[in-house]
Amino acid sequence: MPRPLAKGMSKDLITMDDLSDDDIVGLLDDAARLVPVAHGDVHLPLLEGKLLGNMFFEPSTRTRMSFETAMKRLGGNVINLGALASSSVSKGETLYDTMRMVDGYCDLAVLRHPRQGAAQYAADACTIPIVNAGDGAGHHPTQTLLDLFTIREELGKLEGLTVGLLGDLRYGRTVHSLAAALARYDATMHFIAPKSLAMPRRVTAELPDGWSAHTTLDEILPELDLLYVTRIQKERFPDPEDYARVAGAYTISAETLRDAKPVLRILHPLPRVNEIATDVDDTGHAAYFRQAFNGVPVRMALLEMLLGSD
Ligand code: NCD
Repeated sequence: MPRPLAKGMSKDLITMDDLSDDDIVGLLDDAARLVPVAHGDVHLPLLEGKLLGNMFFEPSTRTRMSFETAMKRLGGNVINLGALASSSVSKGETLYDTMRMVDGYCDLAVLRHPRQGAAQYAADACTIPIVNAGDGAGHHPTQTLLDLFTIREELGKLEGLTVGLLGDLRYGRTVHSLAAALARYDATMHFIAPKSLAMPRRVTAELPDGWSAHTTLDEILPELDLLYVTRIQKERFPDPEDYARVAGAYTISAETLRDAKPVLRILHPLPRVNEIATDVDDTGHAAYFRQAFNGVPVRMALLEMLLGSD
């Protein structure tokens, strides 16, 4: 069964730095055990009586719904901020005041916000655990946990993989958290992006040697065990013309993957726009829909770690 929170561990999850190597392994192992509960085949009300606040100040389908599914499958309950237009955010309420309210209503809050640093700001304002579900172009640690879980399930290990991260590496928060995590497992990382969307220096500065930057996929595709594809983050571009210049920069099709290793797995946090053609879905490389399901057991394991009784 899932382990209780290790004594002294931070109760907030803002970046992957909040988790030790042992925390990550523990969460992935717990998630594997919780898969039948995630499917609804086993009833395990470990979080009965607990209330989660889903605070999404930006659109979300998978992250919000899988947190809600995870909480409810474990017997807990969920309240949602709901549409911004119908909340007091539209009256000008500050993030600080909104979070102070939620601090009183809930046992844990999951926060997504367009501003980088918003999750840490909220954590500083609250006594309940705060889970960062995406802060602008900053971090998205729970996505990384489910990415790691998926990689381990699909490839049988996390250590020593050759990984391509492709697309919007500048504004994509998922790849910022993932690159930091993969460095713990001695990954060889290839960052494939248009020059204007390269991985930010604040991320690469924290990485050990073993990464390289590219603008095209062809040259390194045959070496890859894993290709992590991301959407160009249209909403983060200060100038729509800059977006227009890079929109559609990469489209992976079944044909593109002709020279890939048979074991290559393709992950994408979703939603996809046009980065992966639907003919890839029918190849053995596509793992992104299984990846999306894995958000449920992984978030269950995290909620149990943060809220479960010891
Ligand atoms: C990602 C996000 O919100 O950062 N989506 C997700 O959580 N699965 C990726 C994206 O929006 O492109």
